[in-house]
Amino acid sequence: MTKKKLLATVLGERQDTPPIWIMRQAGRYLPEYRETRTKAGSFLDLCYNPELATEVTLQPLRRFDLDAAILFSDILVIPDALGQKVRFEQGEGPMLEPLTTSGVDRLERGGALEHLAPVLETVKRLRAALAPEKTLIGFCGSPWTVATYMLNGRGSPDQWVARRFALEHPESFAKLMEVLVETSVDYLVAQLKAGADVVQLFESWALNLDDAAFTTQVIEPNRRIVEGVRARVPNAPIIGFPRGAAGNLRRYANATGVNALGLDYATPLNFAREHLPADLPVQGNLDPLRLVIGGDAMERRVIEIKEAYADRPHIFNLGHGIVPETPIDHVAKLVELVKQG
Ligand code: CP3
Repeated sequence: MTKKKLLATVLGERQDTPPIWIMRQAGRYLPEYRETRTKAGSFLDLCYNPELATEVTLQPLRRFDLDAAILFSDILVIPDALGQKVRFEQGEGPMLEPLTTSGVDRLERGGALEHLAPVLETVKRLRAALAPEKTLIGFCGSPWTVATYMLNGRGSPDQWVARRFALEHPESFAKLMEVLVETSVDYLVAQLKAGADVVQLFESWALNLDDAAFTTQVIEPNRRIVEGVRARVPNAPIIGFPRGAAGNLRRYANATGVNALGLDYATPLNFAREHLPADLPVQGNLDPLRLVIGGDAMERRVIEIKEAYADRPHIFNLGHGIVPETPIDHVAKLVELVKQG
């Protein structure tokens, strides 16, 4: 059987050179993405179109020797599937009608998987299209991160509205977490059954929380998702990416039971060696800005990152998503450097 190097690394096998994928690898820095995106209509139309979503998922793999494809979709298809309509405005990012306590009671869990059927069809098509050595990554947003958009109606720098709601309305907040945990478990199980090799939990707003809030809002929901998915898909390989978790990172890794831990670019390179179990696979963590600048600013750091994690299972990645202004030849250079012995 052909080995999937990236999957093997998530499962704890160290490689001589790290496998690589790039967060948001299908996206606006690629002209072929922009073209397909225009053809699709709105961003969500693209997410729900299996033919075009399969196409944009595969685009970065045609250009670069990446070890994984990540399903093209978005973390906000979950609120959309629960009946809280999501729009993406040009230059504005996602927009939703902010959720209230009575809105939490009105979320419609029943039809969520049916609403997400086109995304699951994309996973099936990808499974069939991918070469056997490529790992297929599925994903969802973690409940707290998704809730920040549901409660505030859009992105915000400090998640103030959602943090306040969690403290002021603990019962309603717990109910919202419950709906999101259960829907995410169903969704990830369906992705794994449709052919995803690994799933990643995107906890993009794990910052700005004191450690008590971090336990209730981040650790518990993520732990319950890991447990819930593994109850139905034994040993399901899961990557957790709690961006900004900083001093809570080690506790997140231990308590949630994820196989591999995504590190953001603010995490010092010696952190893993000093604070994480020696056999815990890590993923990361190049600053996307260094990929924009290229040259020495990127190349020196790539070598430092490879050295820092050389003695453990390591998946090379950015420490957050690639940005639209990234030059394509810098991405090619990055992949080449990572693959050099
Ligand atoms: O990585 C991939 O190639 C897979 C697809 C993917 C997208 N979003 C496509 C996308 C994944 C895994 C995501 C995750 C996602 N979405 C996160 C977590 C990761 C992170 O960046 O922290 C978050 C917070 C979202 C929510 C979201 N989606 C925002 C805030 C925005 C607007 C910001 C922006 O970059 O424009 C999006 C839109 C989005 N999701 C785009 C893409 C390619 C750009 C939209 C477009 O093409 O017009």
